[in-house]
Amino acid sequence: MTISNARSAWEKDRDHLIHPYADFSTFKEEGSQVIASAKGMYVTDTDGRQLLDGIAGLWCVNIGHGREDMAEAISRQVLDMQYYNPFGHSTNVPAAELGAWLAEHAPGNLNHVFYSCGGSTANEAAVRIVHYYNSLRGKHTKKKIISRKDAYHGATYLAANLTGIHATKTSFDRIGEDIVRYVSAASLFDKPEDQTEAQFCDYLVREFEAAIDNIGAGNIGAFIAEPVMGAGGVLVAPKGYHKRMKAVCAAHDILYIADEVVTGFGRLGEWFASERVFDYTPDIIVCAKGITSGYIPLGATLISDEIHDVIAKPQAEGGVFSMGLTYWGHPVACAAALKNVEILETEGMLENARHRGDDLLNKAQRLLECPRVADVRGQGLMMAVDLMADPDTRTPFDPGQKAGQKVFSKCIERGLIVRPVGDRLVLSPPLIVTSEQCDTIVSTLEEALQELDREMA
Ligand SMILES: Cc1ncc(COP(=O)(O)O)c(C=O)c1O
Repeated sequence: MTISNARSAWEKDRDHLIHPYADFSTFKEEGSQVIASAKGMYVTDTDGRQLLDGIAGLWCVNIGHGREDMAEAISRQVLDMQYYNPFGHSTNVPAAELGAWLAEHAPGNLNHVFYSCGGSTANEAAVRIVHYYNSLRGKHTKKKIISRKDAYHGATYLAANLTGIHATKTSFDRIGEDIVRYVSAASLFDKPEDQTEAQFCDYLVREFEAAIDNIGAGNIGAFIAEPVMGAGGVLVAPKGYHKRMKAVCAAHDILYIADEVVTGFGRLGEWFASERVFDYTPDIIVCAKGITSGYIPLGATLISDEIHDVIAKPQAEGGVFSMGLTYWGHPVACAAALKNVEILETEGMLENARHRGDDLLNKAQRLLECPRVADVRGQGLMMAVDLMADPDTRTPFDPGQKAGQKVFSKCIERGLIVRPVGDRLVLSPPLIVTSEQCDTIVSTLEEALQELDREMA
């Protein structure tokens, strides 16, 4: 104990932890930034350096950090009833209350909820439900899932295979990949110059229809898509895309899974972005992250009445819903979610996200004047800045130049956290961000980008 305490958290982390997406070439030397406290829009590291959190933890701290009312709601639930078996016909009050809240606020007739521990497990549950649903309908081959290149759906084996980001696959086995097929990302940034937005949308829809023809609708259970592709680089689809893709799905008896892990709970200014922002009603919605603002892990898979009617087949007639997680409907997580939605609602945070989202994107347009910036785009409080060696000829940086990583470090030096995804800088601040903080984010990025350009000139 004494020996162990002699080492700092920084050393213990460096010596024992395997971080998601760690760069092992520099990890042992650089170690990790240790965040010790967090309040509102800011986090503070163990050296006492305060940083403006431009990424809401990891797209999740929607209400901001360190709220006492969240701490109270969580501790009250721990003292009332911290955990009990949720299998079979046993439940708890917060799980039931949250289920009713979700059914009331979700689009269409998505009135039924399966809980899990985060986004990956909620996506796994969605796929298993699709498979189970089609098995019970006697459609035993209708099991493949169409996903998209550059999609991110999680890190468990199946969720990793639903993920279409090529760089996440290196040296990992592709277990489960036989059930996944990919179509193009819906990314306006990648629209060919000679096409209008409407023509590009036509192209994507036709490509999807061709994939269905090729695979056979009788072999496809679902299409999965994020309303705005997040980790793939804040890729915004052409207008009308989701609605048209949903219509194609409906025509072929293919379920539409909207992965709203990032876009749900206010990030695009609505509880769920699919219906209110993009005008389509999915058959399944997957949520996590903002559902508790990251105070406690929770995932939820919401399904329609039609799917529920099939999977609710009595055991006596051969329906056995043998799928469960120990922490299904965890009472403390559900109590946190209930408090979280109360805070989001009573403090007008969805509205703030709408206003500040537009504000941030408008202010950030001036970054296009920085010589290495190829694009600035976003929707709601999701934004990306793309860097290129030469934006005019669309020449990317050499990966060894680590341009994104360099801008990240320069922003940290100036007190701002942004997220480098390759040479894309992603921003997703908490929904409480102010207009002044939007100014700070943009001016800090501008300084960092100008310094990068001077260094690379
Ligand atoms: C759209 C989307 N789906 C799923 C996930 C996976 O969620 P988790 O990391 O909670 O398993 C993420 C995580 O970033 C995500 O962005």
